[in-house]
Amino acid sequence: MCGIVGYAGDRACEKILVTGLKNLEYRGYDSAGIAVFEGDKIKTVKAKGEIDKGLVPRLDAEGPLRALAGIGHTRWATHGEPSDINAHPIGNARITIVHNGIIENYRKIKEFLISKGYSFESQTDTETVAKLLDYNYNGDPIETIAMTAAQLEGAYSLGIIFREHKNKIFAVRKESPLVVGKGRGEMFIASDITAILEYTNQYFLPEAGEIAEIDKNGVTFYDIHKNVIEKELQTAEWDKTAAQKGGYEHFMLKEIHEQPVALKNTLSPRIDEQGIPSFDECGLTDEMLRSYKNIYVVGCGSAMHAGMVGKYVIEEMARTPVIVDIASEFRYRNPLITKDDLMIVISQSGETADTLAALKYGNEIGADTLAAVNVAGSHIDREAKMSMKTLAGPEISVCSTKAYMVQCAFMYMFALRLSYARGKIDLAKCREYTDKLLHIPDLIQICIDRKAQYQRVASKLMNASSLLYIGRGLDYALSMEGSLKLKEISYIHSESYAGGELKHGTISLIDEDMPVIAVATQTRLFPKTAANVEEVKSRGAKVIVVCRDSAVVHDEITDYIIRLPETDDILMPLVAAVPLQMLAYYTALDRQCSIDKPRNLAKSVTVE
Ligand code: G6P
Repeated sequence: MCGIVGYAGDRACEKILVTGLKNLEYRGYDSAGIAVFEGDKIKTVKAKGEIDKGLVPRLDAEGPLRALAGIGHTRWATHGEPSDINAHPIGNARITIVHNGIIENYRKIKEFLISKGYSFESQTDTETVAKLLDYNYNGDPIETIAMTAAQLEGAYSLGIIFREHKNKIFAVRKESPLVVGKGRGEMFIASDITAILEYTNQYFLPEAGEIAEIDKNGVTFYDIHKNVIEKELQTAEWDKTAAQKGGYEHFMLKEIHEQPVALKNTLSPRIDEQGIPSFDECGLTDEMLRSYKNIYVVGCGSAMHAGMVGKYVIEEMARTPVIVDIASEFRYRNPLITKDDLMIVISQSGETADTLAALKYGNEIGADTLAAVNVAGSHIDREAKMSMKTLAGPEISVCSTKAYMVQCAFMYMFALRLSYARGKIDLAKCREYTDKLLHIPDLIQICIDRKAQYQRVASKLMNASSLLYIGRGLDYALSMEGSLKLKEISYIHSESYAGGELKHGTISLIDEDMPVIAVATQTRLFPKTAANVEEVKSRGAKVIVVCRDSAVVHDEITDYIIRLPETDDILMPLVAAVPLQMLAYYTALDRQCSIDKPRNLAKSVTVE
């Protein structure tokens, strides 16, 4: 959470910093600011609110700054409300910083600094870091940063400028992400490479505790003892258009439309010469797959929901027990995982703090760990014993769509290979399922093309204050994601319930003001869900049924029907995800919500 950028080069940096911050707004948008070298001074401009509404008008009022180096920040508030004072950069005339992360021992440091005569004006933990740097400053930035880092507990990436070291930027990180970008005669820092893709796709990945000293000519990395370290230059395969809206009104809509391609990109390179999914690229062999007692799947938000789909599929096909856990629960509940188990961690960003901590726990126990991440080189990618990249390309909208889709695809590939390795399905059957999986992008395109039906239903939902999703089996797993999509971007309260559980309490909420979305794609369970639909309909609910093209649904029990192209029951969640995403999108659009940047949320949750 929070995004940081920095620039040193020959160009006026103000616009570059603001562009970088806009690209990072998905990480937080409570306030934003920049600090640059202006003459012999550090000039800081910052404001509460989204960049276009707060920082940009304030910069316009300042007039051009013409500085050649500086740092910037977009904030997701943790300590202290969103305000001008709490906005970053934070510091004094001598040292100014931007910070992503949380300093756990900030109170202790603050007390110490107050005893040394410092006073504080913000409510942030960041101000203690800025003032501790000031207290430790001995004229040598590297020594000062090393000394200060050793006193900090928690997670951070920091961009730092010193008035006495004009046009240089310094950076250090622990836990929180940071890249150092290398252009031609110009250098960058950023919380992630997408922020600076329009300038360069070449970057270094500093490890925890390493300090970067950057000027327009390049970067030198030091360890905490001030030894110079050599680092390998990396190249990002994403190009800059991938992180732009490309004519769509919102990133979310663009990313929904990108799903067929994202799926193809993720699936195709993993199909081996036998025509079935292979995990060779990450060193996961059939022998290993046969050896695991249990499979743990851990993630947060949509990633955990993809794990839920995986659980149903794996247990159905491979007859292997799967425990799905919310990462924040897993890490603190003393789970029963052992070294005989496989732990799968799912994460789009590869940086989610709870998921990372859960992964470290699995590693410590001695379990095999397999990551499915969308960002190569991310923490989780590097920390897991095995890692397979989902190839969705950058996902910018806070609300996950294409990343969820490819996470589900990963789970299907895994389930198929596991079932085959364990002799639960033979090669011919595995190949048949794989072919059907490879055909899913075409079905998704059909769903996308049917957008009129989602728009029509959305217009009926827009005034609801609360609604329910119901489903059974895989439909239940998917409806969890459908419900999350709707609530996070439209701010309509919604819950997802297993159809059979309704009458154990929740049905008491049903009346004519509570629409119910029944996901009913599973042939075997269709009559059961239809019975639930009758129950809610007879209590006055408006019912929307999401079902196959071939399903027979009686008019008297539904108000609206959303139809889906057909495939095997087990693959239907991939198809049915699209209408649920688009229903959420059009409902939020009708309600004029901030679709790509919903209130209070951030895409990359790097604090627990
Ligand atoms: C945030 C995002 C969600 C995402 C979750 C996990 O809450 O808003 O869309 O599903 O984090 O993120 P990850 O990067 O680990 O998949």
